[in-house]
Amino acid sequence: MIIEELDFAAMYREHLQRAERSHKSAEHWDKRAEKMAENCARPKDSYLEGFFKLMDLSDCDTLLDMGCGPGSVCLGLADKMQAVYGLDYSSGMLEVAKRRADAEGLSNVTLIKRAWEDDWSDIPVCDIAVASRSTLVGCLKSALEKLNRQARKRVYTTHTVSSTFIDPAIIQAIGRKVVTLPNYLYAVNILQQMGIKPKVDFIESSGCMNQAESYAQFEDNVAWSLGPLDEPEKLRLQEYYQRHKQQDKPLRTGDRSWAMVYWDATPLS
Ligand SMILES: C[S@@+](CC[C@H](N)C(=O)[O-])C[C@H]1O[C@@H](n2cnc3c(N)ncnc32)[C@H](O)[C@@H]1O
Repeated sequence: MIIEELDFAAMYREHLQRAERSHKSAEHWDKRAEKMAENCARPKDSYLEGFFKLMDLSDCDTLLDMGCGPGSVCLGLADKMQAVYGLDYSSGMLEVAKRRADAEGLSNVTLIKRAWEDDWSDIPVCDIAVASRSTLVGCLKSALEKLNRQARKRVYTTHTVSSTFIDPAIIQAIGRKVVTLPNYLYAVNILQQMGIKPKVDFIESSGCMNQAESYAQFEDNVAWSLGPLDEPEKLRLQEYYQRHKQQDKPLRTGDRSWAMVYWDATPLS
């Protein structure tokens, strides 16, 4: 088989289906909103600093942030734009983003409840379209096409580098089979097949959502990604946790490097 014969959009969908990832509803994300605002959305966050450094804002006045969460990107750049739009399907995330925008006295931020899969025809086309850490969608090709259509100048997206959110050693320790998820390589290849030439860079982040100060937090982080743990799994996870604590080993639930896949907005036929 040669690369031209591969349909990366279909491969992505199949990979996601095989992973049987526990579906994350909007309500699921609502519960995560405060923690994300606290841990992941501060301007000095290492991931956001890396993200902003890779962006070219020249000649850009408007920005759309899809899956904006607590407003990590759109609020962080609001003072450099005439108008920013944050879209998310989680009301909890949008409420936290609104509270943060008000606290900062930002008057050029519009927050809109919207899913990737919804109709976007009433959403303004912006100079820049962004999807930060919000690209694990059912159909990646449609999502990338939508972002490209929504941008006049440039598009910035981030995707996981690793194929698992949780360290495979932890998954094995609790007795589960390691199941991988699609990573950034699908985005690169899907874009290429759409006729877009993306650039790729990497952002090393401190992993804002996988730091754990206690066993309860550690278990919560693991269950968030893997779905609810049964009692024997919890016992094995506790053993893993204690063993690492005793040996003074770092207790991170997973690798959190991100790939920035970005391109100039490209008219598609
Ligand atoms: C990991 S958070 C990233 C938040 C923010 N962009 C950041 O980088 O800090 C993922 C966000 O995507 C949103 N999201 C997930 N699936 C979505 C969907 N199908 N439609 C709209 N938003 C979605 C979640 O509600 C959540 O706010």
